[in-house]
Amino acid sequence: MAAITIVMLTMLSVTSVGSALSVNYYEHTCPQVEYIVAGAVHEATLNDKTVPAALLRMHFHDCFIRGCDASVLLESKGKKKAEKDGPANISLHAFYVIDNAKKALESVCPGVVSCADIVALAARDAVFLSGGPMWEVPKGRKDGRISKAEETRQLPAPVFNISQLEQNFSQRGLSLEDLVALSGGHTLGFAHCSSFQNRIHNFSPKQDIDPSMDPSFAAMLRGICPSHNTVRNAGSPLDSSSAIFDNAYYKLLLQGKSIFSSDQALLTHPKTKALVSKFAYSPKEFEFAFVKSMIKMSSINGGQEIRLDCKVVN
Ligand code: HEM
Ligand SMILES: *[C@@H]1O[C@H](CO)[C@@H](O)[C@H](O)[C@H]1NC(C)=O
Ligand SMILES: *[C@@H]1O[C@H](CO)[C@@H](O)[C@H](O)[C@H]1NC(C)=O
Ligand SMILES: *[C@@H]1O[C@H](CO)[C@@H](O)[C@H](O)[C@H]1NC(C)=O
Repeated sequence: MAAITIVMLTMLSVTSVGSALSVNYYEHTCPQVEYIVAGAVHEATLNDKTVPAALLRMHFHDCFIRGCDASVLLESKGKKKAEKDGPANISLHAFYVIDNAKKALESVCPGVVSCADIVALAARDAVFLSGGPMWEVPKGRKDGRISKAEETRQLPAPVFNISQLEQNFSQRGLSLEDLVALSGGHTLGFAHCSSFQNRIHNFSPKQDIDPSMDPSFAAMLRGICPSHNTVRNAGSPLDSSSAIFDNAYYKLLLQGKSIFSSDQALLTHPKTKALVSKFAYSPKEFEFAFVKSMIKMSSINGGQEIRLDCKVVN
């Protein structure tokens, strides 16, 4: 059954995207690629349980700015600030995992595997290592030569409503179904207070707290994040089982226990609300939809070269 799912999804990605990406891309030039990337992700995760969430979010950020071209990995050069140093970089980390995988790959098949492919594979491995689905990643992305801090403003913001989210996703060829399925990425990881402050303090002129939130959940978050928050890394896990890739995110969302306004917004449109209910009810439906949408998101084009060092252009 699992094998059938993988095959069907692979065919779907090839026909619907029509790009040069393919599952067997490195079959002859670097057959060890999957094994090496998975090893790097696994090793890092043993030492730091926050690595899988970081790698999944890194891939999302990469694909939403200039396509999946590893622009997220480039370092700033003097005054020219790269995405890494842009406003949305809060909590992006674990870049060293990509560097470790790249180093290992350069020693066995130099100049062959793009950094963008490593990021895409690492995101898949991160999901699988966290108990989520396994799928075949189409490969053959190229790395980009441009990364601008101000372009991180193109990322959807956690305060977005459903029409803003829909627009932002559709500009990347992603549907409302993709939006709901990919938001399930919030089954992993952590958010800083600043990312959901809008919901628990001064929500509106009349209400201090977002009325769509469960009151005890809101009170708990206010306990962690007072209005004049002085604890630097304070925040909340994104769901109740934030190291496990499961559908708890959707169940909590239906109970008013989501973290961001952009999560809550999924309940404000009949179509997205129905999908949330479906994914809350069926872990299998969620996994199937998530894989399909990840392959779609990770096929957004960008890039021209195979970088030798993921941090700098050739
Ligand atoms: C729908 C639009 C989205 C918005 C507005 C959004 C916003 C955010 C914000 C504000 C954070 C917390 C940053 C912080 O406070 O440290 C976050 C974390 C995260 N997001 Fe999203 N996100 C969206 C979609 C996605 C997608 C599509 C994925 C992947 C499929 C994803 C995966 C993650 C993960 C895994 C984390 C936790 C990161 C960590 O713990 O290191 N998000 N997101
Ligand atoms: C994130 O960007 C800020 C500037 O907006 C910068 O000071 C900080 O060092 C960056 N963080 C990382 C991890 O790159
Ligand atoms: C996505 O949202 C941001 C923030 O509002 C906006 O600047 C951007 O134009 C939107 N769309 C795209 C494709 O970046
Ligand atoms: C979403 O926000 C935008 C900008 O503030 C606003 O124009 C729009 O009407 C809002 N849409 C919904 C469904 O609330």
